[in-house]
Amino acid sequence: MDSTIVAAVEKLKSGGVVVLPTETVYGLAANALDSDAVEKIFKIKGRPHSDPLILHVLNKEWLQRFSEYKAYANRVDKIVEKFWPGPVTVVLQKKNIIPDCVTSNLSTVAIRCPRHEIFRKILKLVNFPLAAPSANPFGYVSPTSVDQVKQTLGDLVNVIVDGGKCDIGLESTIVDLTSETVKVLRPGAITAQKISDAIDEPVIDYSSGVVSVNPKCPGQLKQHYCTNTKLVLFEHGGQPDILTEFSGKAAVIFNKRPLDCADGISGENVQGKDVFWFSETGDRYEIARNMFGLLQNLDNSGYDVIFCEKPEIHGLGVAINDRLLRAAAKFSSKQNEQASI
Ligand code: TXA
Ligand code: MG
Repeated sequence: MDSTIVAAVEKLKSGGVVVLPTETVYGLAANALDSDAVEKIFKIKGRPHSDPLILHVLNKEWLQRFSEYKAYANRVDKIVEKFWPGPVTVVLQKKNIIPDCVTSNLSTVAIRCPRHEIFRKILKLVNFPLAAPSANPFGYVSPTSVDQVKQTLGDLVNVIVDGGKCDIGLESTIVDLTSETVKVLRPGAITAQKISDAIDEPVIDYSSGVVSVNPKCPGQLKQHYCTNTKLVLFEHGGQPDILTEFSGKAAVIFNKRPLDCADGISGENVQGKDVFWFSETGDRYEIARNMFGLLQNLDNSGYDVIFCEKPEIHGLGVAINDRLLRAAAKFSSKQNEQASI
């Protein structure tokens, strides 16, 4: 067996913290049933204790062990059948076996069943659920590659398992199944419409292009995923307002390769600004996959400002837009106002 997998299993069994790949983003994992181990996650991330963690399980049988499944069996069964293992997290009433620090003293727990083979193998070997937030310092860009993790947490975690670049690149969709009407608390690759179709019920979508302040999801902060470099969004299909906004060293990111860069490479200087794109063609899945990586890369490249085109707010574009609005919120009072609607 791969030696880093063996090292990760040993570390987890002895109450340590490791970085593991998932299909969404890299996670910072510890034994969810061991509050001392979970405390280490909060410390390493600099995460406030008011922000609960997701419990990662191997299958539905584990979900039944850690949550009050029966009250929502109908909804859970349909979601599990359709989307698990995969990027949907369900919020259910918790069982007391889960330490309060995992759930920030809430009566509910968020449970996810990742589909990444390495993560699943490690769950099987340790045979306990893993608490795992994204493997980034609190509030910073989420990691979709080992390089991104090493740049920020490399000195704090010594077992980092490389599972390649994350397939999806955006965190899981979080769905609250405990209320009368199901709610999407965080948009992700599985859209609210897909959830609604799967359970055959209407779904309240807290994520249609605006960032909601929602007490049921304490970690959903207006500002999140933030670069240190100033990030300014511009409209989809438009151009950045560079002259009025700024005159320093600027990077501009488009959703797809712009026409005036037909032969160039991403990063080329065009009329005084370095031009990048998330995707050759504008494919939303490619944009999502490349987004956090490019943002972090440019954050480390000495720019005074990063201008970034908004996505089309449709399908996966809802989740991309959600992340970009939060990432830019700290830099713009206008975007802040939008984000607090
Ligand atoms: O894709 C993902 O979900 C990744 C990978 C690593 O699995 N994990 C992730 O975890 O994004 P984190 O900690 O970065 O985000 C977890 C979110 C937080 O916003 C938190 O507020 C919310 O889940 N959450 C956790 N427990 C909750 C609960 N009981 N009710 C509502 N929201 C909850
Ligand atoms: Mg996170």
